[in-house]
Amino acid sequence: MVNKAIFFSVIVLISIIFSCCQGNENESVDDLVMGPESIIKPPLKFGPEKYICYTTDELTIDGLLLEDEWTNANWTSGFSDIEGNLNEKPLHNTRVKMLWDENYLYIAAEIEEPHIWAYLQQRDTVIFYDNDFEIFIDPDGDTHGYYEFEINALNTIWDLLLIKPYRDGGRAINAWDIKGIKTAVKIYGTLNDPADIDEKWIIELAFPFKVLKEWGTKPADGLQWRINFSRVNWRTIIENGKYIKEKNTETGRNLPEFNWVWSPQGVINMHYPEMWGYVQFSSIQSGKGKARFMEDPDEIIKWRLRTLYYSQREFISLNNRYTEDLAQLESLGYEPSESNPVINITPSGYQATIKSSFTGLLWIIDNTGRIYPIE
Ligand SMILES: *[C@@H]1O[C@H](CO)[C@@H](O)[C@H](O)[C@H]1NC(C)=O
Ligand SMILES: *[C@@H]1O[C@H](CO)[C@@H](O)[C@H](O)[C@H]1NC(C)=O
Repeated sequence: MVNKAIFFSVIVLISIIFSCCQGNENESVDDLVMGPESIIKPPLKFGPEKYICYTTDELTIDGLLLEDEWTNANWTSGFSDIEGNLNEKPLHNTRVKMLWDENYLYIAAEIEEPHIWAYLQQRDTVIFYDNDFEIFIDPDGDTHGYYEFEINALNTIWDLLLIKPYRDGGRAINAWDIKGIKTAVKIYGTLNDPADIDEKWIIELAFPFKVLKEWGTKPADGLQWRINFSRVNWRTIIENGKYIKEKNTETGRNLPEFNWVWSPQGVINMHYPEMWGYVQFSSIQSGKGKARFMEDPDEIIKWRLRTLYYSQREFISLNNRYTEDLAQLESLGYEPSESNPVINITPSGYQATIKSSFTGLLWIIDNTGRIYPIE
C-alpha cells in the first residue's frame, strides 16, 4: 500500500511538471478528463462477467492468432450494450480472449464491422472519436489506480493512467505510457473504403507486466484482477466516398455513439471499476486443462460497501453532509449486509468498515471511493 501511494505521488508530480511545461498540450484531451461527476447506483443486479486466463508460450503479435494457445482459449461472451438490458443489443458482435506468460498479459479482440474506418494517427489523441476498442485494468480491485487503453483500426493507441475515477475527482494522466507494449491490427476487409462490405478487425496485444506490476500484484495462479473492455461505435453515413459521422439534422451535432462492453456497467460510464469483469489467472497452459473459477465471498461485502458509498454521495448532495444513519442510507439505495458496517464521520468525510466473517479481513471504504482490506 505504501509503495503504491509513493508510486502515485511520483506519477502525479511528474504529470504536473509535464503538463505545465508542455505548451501546446492537446486541449481536447484535457477538456475530456476534467470535470466532477454526479454518480448513480448502477440499476443492475451485481454480477460482473468472469474469465479464466491460461498461460501460453510467448506469442507473436501480428493479429493472426495462429498459435495453438489462442485456438484453445475460449472467447468471452459477446458484448452487450453498456447499459445492459436497458438498451438495444449491439448491432455487431465483439468478443475477447486472454492469455498470459511470465512477461505479458495478452489480449485478442474480434470486432465484427461491415464498415471499417479510422483516421487518427497520433498516439494519445482522443481515439474514441474514431471507432475504437478499449481496455480497463484495475489489478488490485480497489477502484483507484487503474489503466485505460484505446486503439483504432490504424493501430493508433492512447494509453493513460487514472489515479482515481473522475467521479472521485480523478484526472487522467496522458503522459504515462505503457513502455514495451506490443500491438497489431489485422483487417479482414478494406480500411476507409466504403465501396465494399468488410468483415471484421482483429486486435492482438501484449501488455508487459513490468509496467502493470507497479501495483505490487504480479499475477499468480488463482489471483483475480478487474478488467473490462468496451467498444465505441459511431453511426456513419457515406458521403463522397468517405465515412462521415451521422448528425442530428436539427442540432447539427454527431449522433451519440454506441458503447458495447463485455461486462455491462448499467450506466453510460466505464469509470465504475466495481462493475468490471473478473479475470482469474491460472497456471495451467491453454489447452492443457481446466481451472475452476473461485468465487471470493468478500466480493459481496465490497459491493455492499459500494452501495453505501453511492448512497452517501446521494445523501451529501441533498444534505451537505455525510450520515451515520443506516436507515437513511437504505432509503437511498444502500443494500444491508448480514453484519452492519461501522461508519465513522471524519474531518475529511467518512470511513465505513465491515469485518468479513469469511476471511477475517476488515474492509474499508471512504468518501474517496477507494476500498481496501486490513488484516
Ligand atoms: C464492465 O464489465 C461489465 C461486466 O461486468 C459491463 O457490464 C460493463 O459495462 C463494463 N463496463 C465497462 C466500463 O467496461
Ligand atoms: C471452453 O468452452 C467450452 C464450451 O462452452 C467448454 O466446454 C470448455 O470447457 C471451455 N474450456 C475451458 C478451458 O474452460
